[in-house]
Amino acid sequence: MAPRSKSYQAVQQDPDERWRDDESSQVPCSVQQRPPRHPLLSWIVAATALVFLAVSITVNIFLAWQIKHVTPPPQETDSVSYYGPYCHTLAAGLKRTLPLQIYPDTDYTGDNLSAVTDLWEKLSGDPGVVALPSDYVSEKRLPHAYRFPWDQDKGVYLLQGFHNLHCLRTLFRYIKYTEQGVPNHIALSHALHCLDQLRQDVLCNADDTPRYAGFQTPAGTGAGQVRMCRDWRALETWALEHTACFKHEDEVPGPMVDRFKSCPDGRVLWPTAAAVADRGR
Ligand SMILES: *[C@@H]1O[C@H](CO)[C@@H](O)[C@H](O)[C@H]1NC(C)=O
Repeated sequence: MAPRSKSYQAVQQDPDERWRDDESSQVPCSVQQRPPRHPLLSWIVAATALVFLAVSITVNIFLAWQIKHVTPPPQETDSVSYYGPYCHTLAAGLKRTLPLQIYPDTDYTGDNLSAVTDLWEKLSGDPGVVALPSDYVSEKRLPHAYRFPWDQDKGVYLLQGFHNLHCLRTLFRYIKYTEQGVPNHIALSHALHCLDQLRQDVLCNADDTPRYAGFQTPAGTGAGQVRMCRDWRALETWALEHTACFKHEDEVPGPMVDRFKSCPDGRVLWPTAAAVADRGR
């Protein structure tokens, strides 16, 4: 999402800098000035330091012996870590590594519906439809899914983020038809389903980013504030690597199997007339 203007500044610092340990900002210890000490005090400090050193050496010898002779606890298994606290996403293994600013306005906003329509219409859930092999499905403990028509070992899944995009486009269309007063092609139940899916996602994520108030134009919260995000492009790449070649442009019901014939790289996974003739020979 490209920002409309670059005038928003990160509140803290440059986004790259906020997440880097910046040694130059720390005052080196040797520069700090100390008042002169009484000679007797220096002796007491030195004696105390010697006692601590002796204790430290003894403890270290003991620890070294323990590391050699005590067996380590068993490693966490994959299944435990997947159902423990997530530090990375389940399927694509994404972490929050990307600092992004919050933009109050982007190319998707404004007062002119026709000007933003193309962008919203480009949002699609289709690239997020993936075909996952049964080994992977059991490793991740995913529910059994509809069979991928061109490989019975694979199940069909729609990645959550892409379902969210599909819902955003559906809601945009609903708003557009309503705003323009034209017949609404989106069923109210579909619009509410999408709103509710996004609601559930909001609650599930329980995002605790404290958006600062004040000091921004137009009035609002969080403008220019940097938070750590997952890399959507990495998710797109992962989805592409597992593509189910799905295309379902206008949500008109049709033969399900025909929707799995749009491979991004032009591959043909299904039996063509030529292939069938070939096999007959
Ligand atoms: C709205 O956007 C369209 C397409 O970009 C443009 O042709 C039209 O002039 C705009 N309307 C207004 C009122 O600015």
